[in-house]
This record gives sequence, structure tokens and C-alpha cells, in this order.
Amino acid sequence: MASHSHFLLLYLFLMSSVICQVTEFISIDCGGTSNYTDPITGLAWVSDNGAIMNYGKSAEVEIPNGNMQYRRRRDFPIDSKKYCYTLGTKERRRYLVRATFQYGILGNGDAYPKFDLYLDATKWSTVVVLDASRVYVKEMIIRAPSSSIDVCICCASTGSPFISTLELRPLNLSMYATDFEDNFFLEVAARVNFGALSKDVIRYPDDPYDRIWDSDLEKRQNYLVGVAPGTVRINTSKYIDTRTREYPPVKVMQTAVVGTQGILSYRLNLDDFPANARAYAYFAEIEDLGANETRKFKLQQPYFPDYSNAVVNIAENANGSHTLYEPSYMNVTLDFVLSFSFVKTRDSTQGPLLNAIEISKYLKIEPRTDSQDVTVLNALRSLSAESAWTNEQGDPCVPAHWDWVNCTSTTPPRITKIALSGKNLKGEIPPEINNMETLTELWLDGNFLTGPIPSISNLVNLKIVHLENNKLSGQLPKYLGSLPDLQELYIQNNYFSGEIPSGLLTGKVIINYEHNPGLHKEAGKKKHSKLILGVSIGILAALLVVLIGSLLFLRNLQRKTSHQKTAVQGSSLRVSAKPSTAYSVSRGWHMMDEGVSYYIPLSEIEEATKNFSKKIGRGSFGTVYYGQMKEGKEVAVKIMGDSTTHMTQQFVTEVALLSRIHHRNLVPLIGYCEEENQRILVYEYMHNGTLRDHIHGSVNQKRLDWLARLQIAEDSAKDNCRT
Ligand SMILES: *[C@@H]1O[C@H](CO)[C@@H](O)[C@H](O)[C@H]1NC(C)=O
Ligand SMILES: *[C@@H]1O[C@H](CO)[C@@H](O)[C@H](O)[C@H]1NC(C)=O
Ligand SMILES: *[C@@H]1O[C@H](CO)[C@@H](O)[C@H](O)[C@H]1NC(C)=O
Ligand SMILES: *[C@@H]1O[C@H](CO)[C@@H](O)[C@H](O)[C@H]1NC(C)=O
Ligand SMILES: *[C@@H]1O[C@H](CO)[C@@H](O)[C@H](O)[C@H]1NC(C)=O
Ligand SMILES: *[C@@H]1O[C@H](CO)[C@@H](O)[C@H](O)[C@H]1NC(C)=O
Ligand SMILES: *[C@@H]1O[C@H](CO)[C@@H](O)[C@H](O)[C@H]1NC(C)=O
Repeated sequence: MASHSHFLLLYLFLMSSVICQVTEFISIDCGGTSNYTDPITGLAWVSDNGAIMNYGKSAEVEIPNGNMQYRRRRDFPIDSKKYCYTLGTKERRRYLVRATFQYGILGNGDAYPKFDLYLDATKWSTVVVLDASRVYVKEMIIRAPSSSIDVCICCASTGSPFISTLELRPLNLSMYATDFEDNFFLEVAARVNFGALSKDVIRYPDDPYDRIWDSDLEKRQNYLVGVAPGTVRINTSKYIDTRTREYPPVKVMQTAVVGTQGILSYRLNLDDFPANARAYAYFAEIEDLGANETRKFKLQQPYFPDYSNAVVNIAENANGSHTLYEPSYMNVTLDFVLSFSFVKTRDSTQGPLLNAIEISKYLKIEPRTDSQDVTVLNALRSLSAESAWTNEQGDPCVPAHWDWVNCTSTTPPRITKIALSGKNLKGEIPPEINNMETLTELWLDGNFLTGPIPSISNLVNLKIVHLENNKLSGQLPKYLGSLPDLQELYIQNNYFSGEIPSGLLTGKVIINYEHNPGLHKEAGKKKHSKLILGVSIGILAALLVVLIGSLLFLRNLQRKTSHQKTAVQGSSLRVSAKPSTAYSVSRGWHMMDEGVSYYIPLSEIEEATKNFSKKIGRGSFGTVYYGQMKEGKEVAVKIMGDSTTHMTQQFVTEVALLSRIHHRNLVPLIGYCEEENQRILVYEYMHNGTLRDHIHGSVNQKRLDWLARLQIAEDSAKDNCRT
């Protein structure tokens, strides 16, 4: 009676712990179309459609095994990407992670699927489906490294990658603890229930942790062969106390095999071995032995010096029958083919007994991509509402890198390239980017980024930086000029201001900084566009003086020429000197201090143009001819069409103006001539090559045709005249 109520209490205890576990189970029916409760296990399965997995497609499985979760599978594209499920975990808690694969039927000529399975950055296994009707089970015991894990499928070498189910089962605090868990996962290679009553696996609810215990009756190639003669199966319905460490299910412990002829032996293949492994043997005395009977045995094969000489006496080791004794071999090296045998000792009356075994391979945990790098990538993802690239799954680098990054092959991997051109990023560049020391290429152009360039002084490996076509502002950091490997810096079309660090202008770096209204070269080398602004203001004032001066002169001149029409040459030479005088009046003005055009006699111009023989264009003020001066300089000669008083003023103005202004859109004026009522301007002739040089190496800038620039020269003169 007492033992009965004891059993009831235990049962209640187990049930409550079971209920507590189940709420934390994650059971994903990959490819499933609905959520449901499995009638056999009572577990709730969720379909991975949409919320959990957006990639691949659901496919019907022909000839599924009986369970609902195998009726459909999820097929992934055959490409170079990885497809990941992210499962929430509690950091440092131990879990069992299980992925299963049942393909169904391979069509005629179909390649058998072969692909890789990853847990975070650690390669878990290569899934090879040779028997399409079999459910391939991959189990891993982990201590969660963070608040979530990624289970990824990738790298198909043949056939189509797929998955049937994905399950996450929390374990009790002390279960499966190893000395190596900081650095190793435990990949389950075999978990066998000996003396099983049927071929069915034992799992939840018999195992509250939902481990899968294979039946030793299941016949498979190279699986539990070489059974010693005299091996018998025994069972009990008595309760077994399994509360030791790994809590194997009572049902598993209620059956066993016994080597009645003194030896128990089996052979099985272990996938992905040889390897270092942890091996568990589960023993419970379930036979009622008489007082004169003993069961003592040793592990004969494989031979481990530390373990093999120890004599197992289950009832003694467990301090009673129907109680678990669970020796585990913490770190043993096992071959691909595992042959194991237990033999009874000479003084033992009974043969060896075995209830269950479990063998797990140590799998070195590969580090994920540097967490500081990942922080920045996540910050960048949060700047865009787009989904295709912001939802890329798993680790940025392993096993396949995201589309928009590139990585080092170091451990841990680090990011070398960020390629987010035109991805609708809004906001500021995350300042943590300064921690990405291995970054060589940064492409953030064509977005809506605002704010300054954060400090990037640690990014000494940067080679290529594209920030153009954003709304970035502030000063360019000085050290940009001293980044040792910088080759290319594009920052045009932003709102940067201040000076361009001189180190960027040495020619070593390809730089484009156009269309940043506030940005300029270091003081003294200001951009022409700034200059022209100052000039035009000054010119307004200067022109007034020039205008009044020349008006007076011309009135004078007209009077003179009408009087002495024969002495043209001399007087027009004098006249031509006058405008110079006129604007030499304004020499005090700060911008009138260099580059005065000089007077060119008409004869020289006629010689240069071979009597105006080669017409190259016509502007609004007259015709343009090609010429070559005696010293070889090529010139464009413009003859003003009109010789009215107004035109004369115009002429004087233009000479004054053009001889001062050197703008990249204006053709430099070399000289002028005013003879016999002919007014001629002589410009520098520009071939297209020369022209390009004047456009400051900008690729995007519309190239102005040389003649168009002549036109601009005229127009600006005209505008200045009007005012
Ligand atoms: C975990 O094991 C401890 C004993 O080590 C036990 O007290 C506790 O109830 C167990 N929890 C679950 C959920 O099984
Ligand atoms: C299944 O359950 C999950 C979570 O409980 C939910 O997000 C999802 O919408 C459900 N799917 C269907 C098809 O009901
Ligand atoms: C369990 O063991 C008993 C003997 O103890 C045997 O009669 C019975 O057939 C066994 N049950 C199974 C299913 O093997
Ligand atoms: C196991 O033992 C081997 C050698 O004895 C050692 O190199 C290894 O680090 C140990 N642990 C694991 C998990 O392999
Ligand atoms: C143990 O004792 C029983 C009687 O109690 C006897 O039948 C049996 O043969 C003995 N076994 C051995 C191994 O001595
Ligand atoms: C073994 O069990 C007995 C009772 O069955 C108990 O008195 C004894 O303390 C136990 N020994 C150990 C080492 O647990
Ligand atoms: C990524 O980097 C490797 C070398 O580090 C290079 O060979 C490869 O072309 C790069 N891939 C892309 C997409 O930039």
C-alpha cells in the first residue's frame, strides 16, 4: 500500500514535469498546411508556412509513414543560398534539436537528395537520402549559445534539399552535461532500446523529453548485427527508478537483452565516425535474482583502459534492483564500425544484461560571424522596410554568405564588404561601423541616408567607399585622407560641407565630390564655382564704372571717326587702348588683378585665320572662325556681327569681363581687336580632349560643347550688360 501511494506520487510528479516540458516544445511540420495536434503523441504541430519559413515550397510525400507530420515536406530551391529556421532558446539551457527527413518516392532518374545541415555556423551533418521511404533523423544535444539558434539547409550536391520536421526539446538542467560543452555540441549517433517489445520507437509521451529510442527489432543495414548466440529478450512491468541524470524513460528500462551464454555483442555503423564520442550504457536489474545468484560483467570491446577493467554489478552499482545504473564514457574515440561486447566474469552466475545505449559524437562548435560586425549589419537592416534582403536568414557568412555581404574565411568570419546600393535605407549610418576593422568595401550609395559620416578611423582596410546620392551632411573626417588603402571615394550629391581633406586630392584616390554645395577644397584653392559668384557681384559694381567710362569714350570716338575717316588705323588703335583704360579704372577692385587680354592687330588675325577661311560656327553675336597664331596657338575668332553703339558697349563689356573670368564653362579669351568698325574677339580654341580636362574629371557632368560654351560667354556678358 505504502509503495503504491509512493508510485502514485511519482506518477503525479512525472506528469507535472511532462506538462511543464510540453509547453516549451517547438514542433514544426515543415511543408505542412495547417496546425494540428498529433493524435498519437498529443503534441501540437505548427505548419511552417509563412510566419516561420517564406522560402521553398510544400510538396506532398508519396507513401508517408503513419505520422501526420510526414505527409508533406518542404522543398528548397537548388541554389547557393542557405535556408534557415530560427528557434528561440534560453541561453545556456540544454536542448535536444531534431531535424527529420522523409522524401517519399524518388522518381525515375531523380538524383537522390544530398545536402548539408547546419546548426548556427557548425556543420551538423550531410543528409544523404538513399532510401526515400526511410525517415532520416538528425539529433543534436546542445547548450544554447544564445537566445536563438539557426538550423540551416544548404549546399545541395545532388537532388533537391528538403526537410520534413524540425523539433526543439528543452532538457532538464543537468541532463547531458559534459566537460566540453563550451566548445562542443553532441550529435546523437545511436540511441537504442534493447529488448524492445515492438519495432516502434519510444518517444513522447513515454519519454518526457521526447528523445527517440530506436527499437533493437528494427532491421537495417549494418545496424545491430553480429548478435551473440544465446541472447534473450526480457521485460518487466515493474516500475524502474530512472532518476539519475539522463532520465531515460521507464518503458525503455523495462526491457533488456541478456547474454545467457555469458556474452552480449552487437555491431553497428556510426555515421560521420571515427570521432571522439560520449557513450552511455543504461543498466537496470529487471530479473529477480535468487540469493545465490549474481550478475557481474565487463566491457570487453571496444577496449578502454579506464573502463574495461571495471566490473559491472548492476544491483550493487545502482544500490538495488529496478534502479538505473548509468555509467557513461565521457570521451572515447570510436570507429565508423562499432563492435561492442560485454562478457560475464568467471564468478558471475548470470550473463551480462543491457537495457539501452546512447552514443553521441562531439562536434566542434564553429564560431558565428563576429558579433560586432553582425550588430552593424542588423542596424543597417533596420534602416530599410524592404524585406527580401533584410530578412536573409541565419549567420551572415556561414554556411553561405548573404547576398549583400562578403566575408573573410577566418574563424570567426568577418565582414569584408557591404553592398547596399539603392536599398531604400533611411536614417544615419550606424556609428558601430567603426568596429568592422576588416571592411574593405562599403557601398551605401543611392539611399536616403542622413547625418554625418560616423567615425571610421579604425577601418584601415577600406579600399572602396560609395556614399554618393544620399542626404549625408557635415564635414568629411580628416583621417579619410590618411586611410592607407583607400582607392575610391564617391560622395557626390550629398550635403557635405567644409574642406576636403588634402590627402584625398593627391591623385592616389579616385574621388568624386561634386554637388555638395558646402564642400570645397582647402582655402586658397577654392572651386571656381565659388569664385564666379564673388566675381559676378564685384563685376556688377565694376561694370557700372566701365559702362559709364566707355559710353563717354565712344561718344567721343564716334565724333572723332566721323571727322577723320582716313586715319582709321591709328585712332582705332588708340580707341582700342581706351577700353583697357576704362577697366584699368577699376583696377582697384579685388578681382581685376590678373590676366588682362591683349590687343591683337587685325592683320595678325587675318593671317591666323587665313583671311577668315575656316568657319566653325555661328553664335548669336556673330560668326566664329578657326585660326592658328604665329606661335602655333589655336584660336577661335569671333567677329561681332553688329557695329551699333549698343554693340560697341557690348564689346567693351565682354572684353572686360571675359579677360577676367576663368570659369570652366567659359572659353578663355586671349585677345581682341577693334579696327575698321570690326570688333573681333579671339578665344582659345579647345579640342574635346582639352575640354574634358576642364570638367574636373566628373563623369556624370553633362559635357558642354565648345561652341555652347562660347555662347555662355556671350550670354553672361549680355546679362552683365543689362544689369
Ligand atoms: C530536473 O531534475 C531535478 C533533479 O535533478 C528535479 O528536481 C526536477 O524536477 C527535474 N525537472 C524536470 C522538468 O524534469
Ligand atoms: C499555426 O500556429 C502559429 C503559432 O501558434 C500561427 O502563427 C500560425 O498562423 C498558425 N497557422 C495556421 C495555418 O493556422
Ligand atoms: C514479457 O516477458 C514475459 C516473460 O517475463 C513474456 O511472457 C512476454 O511475452 C514478454 N512480452 C513481450 C511483448 O515480449
Ligand atoms: C577527448 O580526448 C582527446 C584526446 O584524448 C582530446 O584531444 C579531446 O579534446 C577530448 N575531448 C573531445 C571533446 O574530443
Ligand atoms: C540457487 O539456489 C536455488 C535454490 O534456492 C537452486 O535451485 C539453484 O540451482 C542455485 N543456483 C546456483 C547457481 O547455485
Ligand atoms: C542503498 O539503499 C539502502 C536501502 O535500500 C540504503 O539504506 C543505503 O543507504 C543505500 N546506499 C547508498 C550508497 O545509497
Ligand atoms: C568575396 O570575396 C572573395 C575573396 O575574399 C572574392 O573572391 C569574391 O569574388 C567576393 N565575392 C563577392 C560577391 O564580392
